[in-house]
Amino acid sequence: MSDEPSVMNQDAVIPGYLGRALSYELSAVQQYLSLSSLLTMRGVHEASERFRNEAQDELRHAERIIGRMVALGFAPNASCLRPPKLNGSLSQLVEHVIEFEHEIVEFYESAVQYCIQAGDCENRIFFDALLSEERQHVNHVNDWWQKMVTT
Ligand SMILES: [Fe+2]
Ligand SMILES: [Fe+2]
Repeated sequence: MSDEPSVMNQDAVIPGYLGRALSYELSAVQQYLSLSSLLTMRGVHEASERFRNEAQDELRHAERIIGRMVALGFAPNASCLRPPKLNGSLSQLVEHVIEFEHEIVEFYESAVQYCIQAGDCENRIFFDALLSEERQHVNHVNDWWQKMVTT
């Protein structure tokens, strides 16, 4: 009985993290697909293809999160989709994407940190995998952009 409040608290926090994660991932899908369409219109086909592929990655993340939510027994409900940012030069658009990916990395870092403190090993592993893939996104977008501007 004495540890019931912390269990209840943990039960409320993890769905919160998963809901925010789903909002982030679906916002990223929307951002990348919009960017891809915009860049196709501008005739920047390589970058457009690049961002279309990123959207697929983010969609797979959303699918994993939805799977986890359903497995834990509650309905997915992403409620804060962020409007895509589509203003500016290609360089400004890429800068925005990198900032957004950094924000998602920070979010997953906080989810992992919470799981460590709560002793929740299963959810820590789940969020840790997403964290490491988002860190790779930041590196890949940075590397790709460096190549674009130096060639
Ligand atoms: Fe993602
Ligand atoms: Fe990402």
